[in-house]
Amino acid sequence: MNGKVNRVVLIGTGAVGCSYAYSLINQGVVEELVLIDVNELRAEGEAMDLNHGLPFAPSAMRVWSGTYKDCQPADLVVISAGLAQKPGETRLDLVAKNTVIFKEIVTNVMKSGFDGIFLVATNPVDIMTYVTWKTSGLPKERVIGSGTTLDSARLRYMLGDYFEIDARNIHAYIIGEHGDTELPVWSHTTIGVEKLDTIINRNGSYNTNDLERIFENVRDAAYHIIDRKGATFYGIGMSLVRITRAILQNENSILPVSVYLEGEYGHSDVYIGAPAILNRNGIRQVIEIELTEKEKQQFDHSVEVLRQSMAPSLK
Ligand code: 2OP
Repeated sequence: MNGKVNRVVLIGTGAVGCSYAYSLINQGVVEELVLIDVNELRAEGEAMDLNHGLPFAPSAMRVWSGTYKDCQPADLVVISAGLAQKPGETRLDLVAKNTVIFKEIVTNVMKSGFDGIFLVATNPVDIMTYVTWKTSGLPKERVIGSGTTLDSARLRYMLGDYFEIDARNIHAYIIGEHGDTELPVWSHTTIGVEKLDTIINRNGSYNTNDLERIFENVRDAAYHIIDRKGATFYGIGMSLVRITRAILQNENSILPVSVYLEGEYGHSDVYIGAPAILNRNGIRQVIEIELTEKEKQQFDHSVEVLRQSMAPSLK
């Protein structure tokens, strides 16, 4: 790092945005955080509240409610604005309304002269990331969606519980749409230092039916949470901080974010969740993992579903 102050602008101070802001402050990742919301008073109140916790934060920072002008020198603009799923709705049901909202937001950000990196969290996240890329005109490497980072964290948490191993020692990826057609890449899952298959074959108390049930719980986790508390926000907030850190601290970390494919996995012109190396420049590289035939078919289906949902809203 060159000693420059890192600035993040957060657009959308609903529950997801504020969970992100709160987690960001507690982890001391950036020096400046600007909050923007259509409800200006709300953004102002959130900034006041967060500021009052700063004496307990691990490092010094400034938080304020701002305007689009504040995006000009920003390193990262995080968008969590828009409508969220209600009970019974899928993420894809939100596409038309959130596309309209996004076109306006991204146009306003770009008018400021912003030339940094976009990180998108709003659902359907793969499509909203595409809309951000298209509207902004920024290189694909600098427009990133949260993708399946949260889903992969959910999978690691649940596998950790099942195998009684620290989730941080589990390498497991969900790829594809952040939504109903996502898939687990069992063929590249490792528990500690051993392959998943090796453990299942050796120990009779673990089996693939349980793994299938675990995956279903991961895929449907948002529905389960929304049915109970009306929304999800802590998990996604922490996932966004993880991605922010990978970018701003130039980590070269591998995270399954929503990336633009240009031939990888046999697809082009679509944003979808896949592992990628992230650093200060955004996406350094999309990692093309070798999938089994079944995984490949599931991934192709996921791409197809995203394309179909995206088509009408982009006309
Ligand atoms: C989640 O998976 C709703 O996309 C949000 O928690």
